[in-house]
Amino acid sequence: MDEQALSVRDAIISRRSIKSFNGQPVEQSEIADILEDAIWAPNHGNRNPWRFVLAAEGNYQDFLEVLRDFGVPKWKELSDDTLEKQMSKYTKASAAMFVIVPEDARQKQRLEDFAAASTMIQNVQLLAWDKGIGTCWKTPGFLDDPKFREALGVDAGERIISMFQFGHFDELPKAKPRTPIEDVVTYWQVATPE
Ligand SMILES: Cc1cc2nc3c(=O)[nH]c(=O)nc-3n(C[C@H](O)[C@H](O)[C@H](O)COP(=O)(O)O)c2cc1C
Repeated sequence: MDEQALSVRDAIISRRSIKSFNGQPVEQSEIADILEDAIWAPNHGNRNPWRFVLAAEGNYQDFLEVLRDFGVPKWKELSDDTLEKQMSKYTKASAAMFVIVPEDARQKQRLEDFAAASTMIQNVQLLAWDKGIGTCWKTPGFLDDPKFREALGVDAGERIISMFQFGHFDELPKAKPRTPIEDVVTYWQVATPE
């Protein structure tokens, strides 16, 4: 087992979503190693309800072309400068991974599968963080664009639940405070007979 730099607790608390990348490369093999571990996420019925389309290294440029061409149709109306500004959110990252889950016709199973894939994605975030790689789970509107789905080879009955970015970064974003647990926990009290 690899040596772990961060405790589980430290990884959970210190991880931040990285939205500004510095363009330093992340190798495809590093991401593949992270996925090998992340898929040990809990998943009901051992359905392994996920598959991935990974655009890394040279293939990341191909993804950027898809994005520029027809992933975001409304961007076509932007001036060149504004388009480049929008694109910089993507060009400075090193890889994009699309997480695709089956949309089970049964509601219970569909919810379980989405939940399982979400736990797997958090594993990816924490494992990457432990290696000093920044990530962000993104859900841009174009994930549901039929042309974009077609470009990725996503079938009817599947949903892209995340555009997941990997990259290196210079600045650690400030943590956004969470709602204190006192506000969200009700401690169970069993009424004692008088
Ligand atoms: C399901 C989901 C969807 C998200 N979609 C986006 C997104 O589209 N764009 C974005 O900038 N961040 C997105 N985020 C990241 C959150 O904005 C981020 O987690 C939040 O700001 C808290 O920051 P932290 O992760 O650094 O604690 C998403 C996170 C989740 C869990």
